Amino acid sequence: MMKIYAFGIIFVFLTLFIVAIFKINELKNIKYYPPEILTNKKILIVYYSNIGNTKSIAESIRFIVGGDIKQIELIEKYPNNIFTMSKLIRKQMKEGVLPQINNIDISNYDIIFVGSPIWNFSVSLPAKAFLKNNNFENKTLIPFFTYSGGASKKKIINEVKNSTNAKDIKQPLFMFENGIILTKEQIIKWLNNI
Ligand SMILES: Cc1cc2nc3c(=O)[nH]c(=O)nc-3n(C[C@H](O)[C@H](O)[C@H](O)COP(=O)(O)O)c2cc1C
Repeated sequence: MMKIYAFGIIFVFLTLFIVAIFKINELKNIKYYPPEILTNKKILIVYYSNIGNTKSIAESIRFIVGGDIKQIELIEKYPNNIFTMSKLIRKQMKEGVLPQINNIDISNYDIIFVGSPIWNFSVSLPAKAFLKNNNFENKTLIPFFTYSGGASKKKIINEVKNSTNAKDIKQPLFMFENGIILTKEQIIKWLNNI
């Protein structure tokens, strides 16, 4: 009986290992083919980032697609202490309060990438405030997220849809923290299929 278990475990690990090697190889050789929707368009990359993960992905996207990049900033910063900050965020979420943020003019752009960390299985409040504050009529919105544990992608996409008047919302990128392996390649794979 023990032998069958041991064989089963080795088999599963070997299969996962082989699949991982194939995936890594597929990503390693990936090339960026600028999608038509980004060609000859004015591109703006906007992001909110508390500890730098989303910022790092935003900068990689900009490196690949070009355009301008702007950071969402809070008028009143969150407390530095993570526990106090989390408590305040939970309270704001419960009460449906959005923080005040800087003004970012999106009127001159056709394509707006919007990046946010996942907070309590939701879009971060500063990014949500940006989506609510701005008029996305006739603009294409391309969201991207960083996370560390989990989130329901379907729920996040619905939240984005409910927070903005954008009609054209592309499939988001979900990146574990600021990427572990082949981050740039993962971004390219997403962009090629947008
Ligand atoms: C208040 C708070 C709540 C969070 N909730 C989640 C969560 O529900 N799911 C998850 O996967 N990560 C969660 N995270 C982790 C962040 O999404 C992750 O570390 C992200 O990459 C941080 O991005 P940043 O460096 O741009 O701020 C949370 C982080 C904070 C500070």
